[in-house]
Amino acid sequence: MSSVSPTPSTARVKPNAPATPQGPNPAAAANSSNGGADALPEEELIEKIRDVHCIGIRSKSKVTKKVLDAAGKLSVIGCFCIGTNQVDLEYASQKGVAVFNSPFSNSRSVAELVLAEIVLLSRQLGDRNNEMHKGDWQKVSANCYEIRGKTLGIVGYGHIGSQLSVLSESMGMRVLFYDVAPLMPLGIAKQVHSLDELLKNSDFITLHVPETEDTKNMIGEHELNTMKQGSFLINASRGTVVHIPALAKALRSGHLGGAAVDVFPKEPAANGKYFESELVGCPNTLLTPHIGGSTEEAQSMIGVEVSQALVKFINYGTSIGAVNFPEVDLRAIKDEENSIRLCYTHSNVPGVLRQITNILADHNVDKQFSDSKGKIAYLMADISDVTSEQIQDIYKRVSETPTNIVTRILY
Ligand SMILES: NC(=O)c1ccc[n+]([C@@H]2O[C@H](COP(=O)([O-])OP(=O)(O)OC[C@H]3O[C@@H](n4cnc5c(N)ncnc54)[C@H](O)[C@@H]3O)[C@@H](O)[C@H]2O)c1
Repeated sequence: MSSVSPTPSTARVKPNAPATPQGPNPAAAANSSNGGADALPEEELIEKIRDVHCIGIRSKSKVTKKVLDAAGKLSVIGCFCIGTNQVDLEYASQKGVAVFNSPFSNSRSVAELVLAEIVLLSRQLGDRNNEMHKGDWQKVSANCYEIRGKTLGIVGYGHIGSQLSVLSESMGMRVLFYDVAPLMPLGIAKQVHSLDELLKNSDFITLHVPETEDTKNMIGEHELNTMKQGSFLINASRGTVVHIPALAKALRSGHLGGAAVDVFPKEPAANGKYFESELVGCPNTLLTPHIGGSTEEAQSMIGVEVSQALVKFINYGTSIGAVNFPEVDLRAIKDEENSIRLCYTHSNVPGVLRQITNILADHNVDKQFSDSKGKIAYLMADISDVTSEQIQDIYKRVSETPTNIVTRILY
C-alpha cells in the first residue's frame, strides 16, 4: 500500500501485500553480504539510485548529501547492519528519507561470546592454547578456577548485559550490575549503587555500555586498582570505554588475572595485519577483532528486521525504529474501499497542524498521530469515505503546503 508519486493513484499496493518491498525499483542492494567490500563508488551509486524508492545498504556504502540529491524518488534506506554512520542522517531526514537499521539483532551473540570468555579467562585458556601451538606443554592448575559461585559484575544492563545476566546465573554465577537507570533485575541479580561498589565486589567485570562522553575511559587506572586482585575485565562494548595503557599496566603487574578485549579505540578499517595495541603479549589476555556480534544468526536477524521495517514504512507509513525520523505508527490500516492513510513529512514549525486540520476539516478522520524530531515532523492520518476526486484534492492541497517535505497517500 504505497504512493510516493505526485499522482497518488499510480502506485497501489494492497495493505495485506506479502512482506517484500513493492513498486518500481523497490530495493537496490548496494553491496554484498561480506559487509560491503564491493560497495559501489559514489558516482556509480548516484547513477543507480536515481529511480529507486527504497535502498538496502551495508556499512561500506556511503549515502552522502550528493547521493541523496540524486535520489529524487528515494523514500527509505535500510542499513542491513548495526551502525548508520555511512548515511548523512540529518540530510536524509531533511529530504524526508527515513533510515532504519538493526541495532540489537546481535545481542545474544555478544552475550554468548562473553560467557565463553569468562570460562576461558578463568582457565587461562588463551595462554595454554598459545603455548601448545608453539609445542610447549604446560599442565597447570594454579590460579585456574571454576566460574560456579563467582561474582560477575555487569556494567550496563541493557540488551546484552541482561542476556548475559541470565546466561551466567545458569552457570552458577552470582550477578551484580551497575547501570545509570534503575532497572528490574532478572533472576536473582542485584543492582548496586555505584561503579566502585561493583568493581570492589566482582570477580569478573564485563562492560556493556554505549559510547558516550560519560563512558569515555570509564575504566581507567583508578577503576582497575579498585578491582579485586586477580579479577578479570571483559570489554565487548566500545573501545573508548577502557583506558588501554592502564589496562596493559594492570595486566603486566599481575593485579588483574586477565582480560578479554573485543573492541579498541582505533580499529583497522580492513582485514589484514594492521592491528597494534599495548595489550599484545599481555598475560592471559584474549584479543578478538570486534567479532562479538558476528554470527550467522545475527546476520539473518538483521535481514529480517530491516526488511520488515522497510516494508512497514512503504506499505503502512510506520516509522517505528527509524534512526533519523519521528517515530509514528497507527492501528492497522483498514482494508476498505474509499479509506486512505495520509503520511505527511513536514518542517517542524508552528501552525502546520492548523493547515492540515483545515484541509481535512470536512472529512472523516478516523485517527491521527504526529510527532517531531529536530527540524522535521511526521503526521499520519487515516481518513474514510473519500472519493477518488477527494483523494486527489487532499494530496494536492497537503503536498502544496509551504512546510511540505514529502506527502504520501496510502490506500
Ligand atoms: N562487540 C560487538 O561486536 C558489539 C556488538 C553489539 C553491541 N556492542 C556494543 O555493546 C554495548 C551495549 O550494547 P546494548 O545493545 O546492550 O546497549 P543497550 O543500549 O541495550 O544498553 C546499554 C545500557 O548501558 C546503560 N548505560 C548508559 N550509560 C551508562 C553509564 N555511564 N554507566 C552505566 N550504565 C550506563 C544504559 O542505561 C543501558 O541500560 C554498546 O556499546 C554496543 O555498541 C558491541
